[in-house]
Amino acid sequence: MSGRKPAAAAGSCDIRDPALADAGQRRIEWALEDMPVLQELTRWFSEQQPLKGIRLSGCLHITTETANLARTLKAAGADLVLCASNPLSTQDDVAAALVTHYGIPVYAIRGESTEVYYRHINAALDHRPVITLDDGADLVSEIHKSRRELLDGMLGSTEETTTGVIRLRAMAAEGALQVPVIAVNDAMTKHLFDNRYGTGQSTLDGIIRATNILLAGKTFTVVGYGWCGRGIAMRAKGHGANVIVTEVEPLRALEAAMDGFRVMPLIEAAKLSDFIVTASGDKHVVDSMHLQVMKDGCVLANSGHFNVEINIPALEAMATGKHRPRVSVEEYTLADGRRLRLLAEGRLVNLAAAEGHPSAVMDMSFANQVLCAVHLATREQRLDNRVHDVPEDIDREVARLKLAAMDIQIDTLTSAQQHYLSSWQEGT
Ligand SMILES: NC(=O)c1ccc[n+]([C@@H]2O[C@H](COP(=O)([O-])OP(=O)(O)OC[C@H]3O[C@@H](n4cnc5c(N)ncnc54)[C@H](O)[C@@H]3O)[C@@H](O)[C@H]2O)c1
Repeated sequence: MSGRKPAAAAGSCDIRDPALADAGQRRIEWALEDMPVLQELTRWFSEQQPLKGIRLSGCLHITTETANLARTLKAAGADLVLCASNPLSTQDDVAAALVTHYGIPVYAIRGESTEVYYRHINAALDHRPVITLDDGADLVSEIHKSRRELLDGMLGSTEETTTGVIRLRAMAAEGALQVPVIAVNDAMTKHLFDNRYGTGQSTLDGIIRATNILLAGKTFTVVGYGWCGRGIAMRAKGHGANVIVTEVEPLRALEAAMDGFRVMPLIEAAKLSDFIVTASGDKHVVDSMHLQVMKDGCVLANSGHFNVEINIPALEAMATGKHRPRVSVEEYTLADGRRLRLLAEGRLVNLAAAEGHPSAVMDMSFANQVLCAVHLATREQRLDNRVHDVPEDIDREVARLKLAAMDIQIDTLTSAQQHYLSSWQEGT
């Protein structure tokens, strides 16, 4: 996947600085080495061209891995544009390389305002996509809210993350969803690896890069013990932290307890914690009452949804002063003198303060994205307007390709075993 292609047409992009393109290209190529499944799909689909002429808009984190996803989609024939799914996760050099070296229009500038963020989403929708790729359901929401003229021709959408899937299921339950969506997030080869191992490693990476505080011996609270929370808790424990988990679901709380973590309400954990990291997908899980009891110096970070998990307006209202001791740290001083340290403005710390998920896990998530886009584009009948699971054969194919790339062989069932496992008549 190398070689220079014509740059995207001038005016069909909004990026920080085209001069960053060569640096971006080097990092994209580096990431590609750890993305063997995408490489294999590129080989297959360059010949088959299953997305030929298909207009596709992606609202995704503009990172090196997304760049390689975009290259695979383009190699498969797609007519593709990208915008950012989070104002702080955009890597400006990658955006520049996509435009300059790979001819893919991008609308994304790191740190863009909310107004520019939505302008970019609408620029991506001006492409009149028949397939959208979302990470948080922003394209699909915007289409339903203010670009309904696009609904008619759409083949469907894919959704990369948990919160997006929750939103889309809520829309479907109310009968509001007017496009079929494939929940890529729910593929086993996505959330088992990306949410757990990807978020786990990169969240710790983000916290360490942001603060350079030693984790060993510290009390580290994880809010939400879902796929992301499990990974974060596991990796924090590996650093020698004393990990507390808070939950609202009894089963998840029980699992956390049996995995060896202390489990308690956040109001108790808040008094003990040196670090509190949210991964719940939920709003204001860290609220005023928790802020009021936190220890001096407590570090707050979010690795769940957007910037809503920590009640930042409440923190702002309580603070008597604020300064920025390090690039990704804002230190709030409260009236009683306590200092609370918010990382990355409460946005996804693994993306804003580190580089997001390692390429090797994104390889699997994005292989699902490619195969689902091809599935939407090549079906004889359009799927119906609801949230669909990733077809099981796609999930297995991604796992098979990843194992092959890792040079791992596995056993196969003998025909006698197949019969035994599928028959109710055979005895014990
Ligand atoms: N940072 C990243 O790169 C990244 C990657 C994947 C997913 N995500 C996001 O992370 C979030 C979590 O994803 P997941 O796959 O782990 O979801 P999940 O549904 O598996 O887990 C979320 C957990 O949070 C718990 N929870 C909800 N409200 C809570 C509260 N008030 N207090 C304590 N626990 C609460 C739920 O019971 C659930 O167990 C989502 O918003 C998802 O979009 C982020």
